Amino acid sequence: MSNPVREIFRLIKRLAFGDSQLPQQFTVGMRDPQSEVTVWLHGLDKPYDVTSRHVMACVKPLTIGVVFEPEWNFPQNGKGQRLSLRFQERGGNGKLVGEILLEGPGVPAPSPGLLLFGVRGSRNYCLAKPRLWLHQLHLAYLRWRFNNNPEIKITPREAHAMIVFFICPRPVVLVSVVHEGAGNVFPMNLMGPVGEGRFAFSLNSTRHAAPIVGRAGRLAISNVPLAQATLARQLGKNHLKDSIDMTQLPFAARTSPTFGFPVPEFAVRVRELEIEFHERLGSHTFFIARLVDDEPMTAAPEFFYVHGIYQAWRIHNRIAAPA
Ligand SMILES: Cc1cc2nc3c(=O)[nH]c(=O)nc-3n(C[C@H](O)[C@H](O)[C@H](O)COP(=O)(O)O)c2cc1C
Repeated sequence: MSNPVREIFRLIKRLAFGDSQLPQQFTVGMRDPQSEVTVWLHGLDKPYDVTSRHVMACVKPLTIGVVFEPEWNFPQNGKGQRLSLRFQERGGNGKLVGEILLEGPGVPAPSPGLLLFGVRGSRNYCLAKPRLWLHQLHLAYLRWRFNNNPEIKITPREAHAMIVFFICPRPVVLVSVVHEGAGNVFPMNLMGPVGEGRFAFSLNSTRHAAPIVGRAGRLAISNVPLAQATLARQLGKNHLKDSIDMTQLPFAARTSPTFGFPVPEFAVRVRELEIEFHERLGSHTFFIARLVDDEPMTAAPEFFYVHGIYQAWRIHNRIAAPA
């Protein structure tokens, strides 16, 4: 029998959120690089497309890396205060869907043109304001009640900017790492290319996954076909482990070409990376790696995450069908 209190609560939620009540991390299928959303850097002499040149470097404090070209007018003398990332639909009417306001002139990171910025605010145009506020309140309640990363206490400003960050669809990869007889395989999606032949990613500093990657100094990342999204999500628990039994992987594996790390046979693309730099920035450790090998395997829709609030916008604008 259903619990009447729970039923009333469910009804109130339905009235408040309508059809915009979707999982925070909503799974979609796309090809990498995605072509749905463009990210523009505003605040310089003109807007620059940074869709494939930005990355989340840390969650707390929320830090975003952007790769500048030397000829771009670098923000100096406080001019960086006005920089922002605008998230705009690529097709249709090129609607502005969200904006993250970057803080400060940026701190250089050891990769050409890469500057790290804090966040001073965000704007989200996916939903009408009252409904957006209700969602933000509800998400704050969920973070307080069921936070599965309780060591990371993010502010409302950071939480709202994270939602906007995930307006841009983010691919999920499986990381394979082996070091001195121990190994691990886990999913990752805080990552992105940072210029020619370089790739950056960010791993929770208090979890077990980051140290083994740091010690190994190299890793293989496999893009995941949409059909294997459930399996990849289940491997999230491996972030909590030092190592796993690499002879009992829950997928058929082959070895990566250069490092010989076990990667899934189902991988859409396998890249091997050698770490050049890693540093703890706060809740997360930021890694910069050099691309050693890049093997595209098959052409299939891949596992991406978007935020549920953006998915509601996609449904409203008929980019996606209601679930
Ligand atoms: C699909 C997926 C992608 C993830 N990506 C990252 C990541 O990029 N960096 C990170 O530090 N943790 C990442 N995590 C780890 C989660 O934030 C969480 O710490 C981990 O899954 C353990 O929580 P769980 O037992 O509830 O899954 C990811 C988890 C999943 C399932």
